[in-house]
This record gives sequence, structure tokens and C-alpha cells, in this order.
Amino acid sequence: MQVVGLDIGFGFTKATDGRNQQIFKSVVGEAAEAAFTNPISLATEAARAHRQISIGDESYFVGETAEAGSRGRGFTLDQQQLLTRYARVLASAAIAPMVPSGEPLRVVTGLPISFLRRHRDGLAALLQQRHQVTLTHADGSKESKQIHVEKVRVIPQPFGALFRHMLNDQGKGAVQRFVTDKIGIIDIGFRTADYAISDRTRYSERGSQSSDAGISLAYTAIANNLTEQSGVQVELYRLYEAIDRGSIKIKGKRYDLNKLTERAFGALATRVATELNRLWADDWDLDAVIIAGGGGAALLPYLQPLIEHELIPVDADADSRMLNVQGYYRYGRHLWPSTPAQPNG
Ligand SMILES: Nc1ncnc2c1ncn2[C@@H]1O[C@H](COP(=O)(O)OP(=O)(O)OP(=O)(O)O)[C@@H](O)[C@H]1O
Ligand SMILES: [Mg+2]
Repeated sequence: MQVVGLDIGFGFTKATDGRNQQIFKSVVGEAAEAAFTNPISLATEAARAHRQISIGDESYFVGETAEAGSRGRGFTLDQQQLLTRYARVLASAAIAPMVPSGEPLRVVTGLPISFLRRHRDGLAALLQQRHQVTLTHADGSKESKQIHVEKVRVIPQPFGALFRHMLNDQGKGAVQRFVTDKIGIIDIGFRTADYAISDRTRYSERGSQSSDAGISLAYTAIANNLTEQSGVQVELYRLYEAIDRGSIKIKGKRYDLNKLTERAFGALATRVATELNRLWADDWDLDAVIIAGGGGAALLPYLQPLIEHELIPVDADADSRMLNVQGYYRYGRHLWPSTPAQPNG
């Protein structure tokens, strides 16, 4: 029996078994039959990250493989759609490469706070099955696997980041202050911003809420501006690398993104700070605030001057997109302590 943390985000799907981790864009597309495989390309990064999975009669490209190679491909910013259309494929593609076929798995995953009540049982039912899948590797070889999910626990998404700080990899309480203090958590993802309060580990209903202030708001503003300038509609998930780089090339012309990004991120940070001050108006006694999510890291320089609470910094070398899923894993080890640790190496 093995514990797996799974985070199906609007931007990225993440999974870990405590030793290995998976992260890829939450994009699913039709698998294309290659008429020609260039042997040189088999040695590239893209080939190593090739993600192709078949479930039943359908074969899919997933993540960056779909982004680059699928004619019909989709992603969504709608929770219902994410669950009904994509969640099963994304979850299987994330878990399959890490686990032995047939091994009983216990999965901890999360939902944005506003969707927790409505979708918790549906998500658990969708995952808790024996999923028969076939992975196709870059060289065309196939590997059949049964993903046997025997138990699922669904928790409020930002609590992943809290458990990441509170527990160690064995699921034991590691840092006392997260157990005894009143902690606020801000998880800024691609579509949602989730705010939660843990008061001596108790979930505070009053202080917890989801909003739409995810990074995609800023990305939409940038994409709209690019459409005005270039006439091309850039899909949001194709903007990560460009924004990181500070420029994008469209039909031979390079557009600077630094100014646009600064403006859009600044506006989003202001919105987050406003929501937060309203939501936590009565919670001025917070001991500290954790900032999580990939969007949290991206917005931090803009957000920091606007937040008066003590902020708990993320280790500079940690990928903040992974905080929730690492916390889910640790919480799983806490719930099911008899599960053996993954051997190192
Ligand atoms: N190395 C990176 N590559 C791509 N995006 C990154 C990277 N580092 C940080 N980011 C930021 O992380 C954001 C995605 O964060 P995250 O993975 O937490 O979202 P999500 O969990 O998929 O979304 P949601 O919580 O709304 O479902 C991106 O929009 C981008 O701003
Ligand atoms: Mg998220």
C-alpha cells in the first residue's frame, strides 16, 4: 500500500509518492499517430517528457505533449468541466508513471474551498477505482498498468501548503508553531485564489474562501493586449514561458512583456490584498501567513508591500506550485501511518 498526493490544478497537475514527482500543464488533447519519428528527437527533453495515455478506446496526449502535438486540445477554467472532462485523464497520467501496476494506493487530494462541499464526493468516486490504462512512451513502446486507488481523502486545497509546513515526510508534527498558532494561508493558483485560516490546526469557516483572483486574470489582460497588437489570440497556457522570459515572438515580431506583466501583476496583487483585508478584517490576531501556489510566488514581490501580517517565506529553491501536493502526501502519511516510507534513491 502506498500514499500518493494529487493536485489537479487549472494550470498544472501535480503528483508525488514522496520520492518522485510529476508536474505538467493541465492540457488534454487527441493523440496523433506519428507518420515519422525522427530518431534525433528521441534524445530530447520533450521525448523524455512524452505523455500519452489510453483509457478504454481513447488515446490522449497530456500536458506539454498535447500543447505541442495535439490538433484538438483543451483546457478549462471551469470546475465542473475540469472534473467531468479532464480529471480522470490528468490524474491517471500523473499517477501511472510512479506506481507499480495493481499496487493499492491511498490518495490525498484537494479542491478549492468554494467547491469542496459540492464536488468532494464526486471527485472521490471518480478517483477511487481500478483504472486500467496504457502508457505509450516516446519510442512507441507500450506499458499497461492498473492504477488501483483504494481510498481517497479530499481536503481544502490551501491546507496542503499548511501540512507541508506542519508535518514531515513521515507525517509527524515537525514544526510546533503551525500546531499552536493561528495561521493564514493564501494559495494563488492559475484560476483560483484560496484563503484559509488554521486556528491551532482547526479550519476556520469564517476566514476561508475562494475567489477568482488567480494568475489567469493577469494573463488574460496580457493576452488581450497582445491580440490588439498582433491580431493573434494567444492561448493562456502558452504564456508561462513568455512571461518568464519577458517577451514573446508572434509571426516573426517580438513583443516586450515586461511592462504589461508589471501592470497586470500589480493590479492582481492589489485585488488580492483588498479581498484579504476584507475577509480577514476580524482576524488581525493571525500569527503568520503562508503564501503558496505558483501564482503566490509570481505575485510575491507585488503582494509583500500590501500585506501587513508576518509572512512565512518559501524556501528559495522550492517550486511553490508543488507545496500543496507535498502537503497532501504528508497528510496521507499522517492519516495512514502504517504505510511504508518510500526507500530513498
Ligand atoms: N516554473 C514555472 N512554470 C510555469 N509557471 C510557473 C512557474 N513557477 C511559477 N509559476 C506560476 O505558477 C502559476 C500556476 O500555479 P499553480 O500550479 O499553483 O496553479 P494551479 O494549482 O494549477 O491553479 P489552481 O489552484 O487555480 O487550480 C502559473 O500561472 C505561473 O504564474
Ligand atoms: Mg492550485
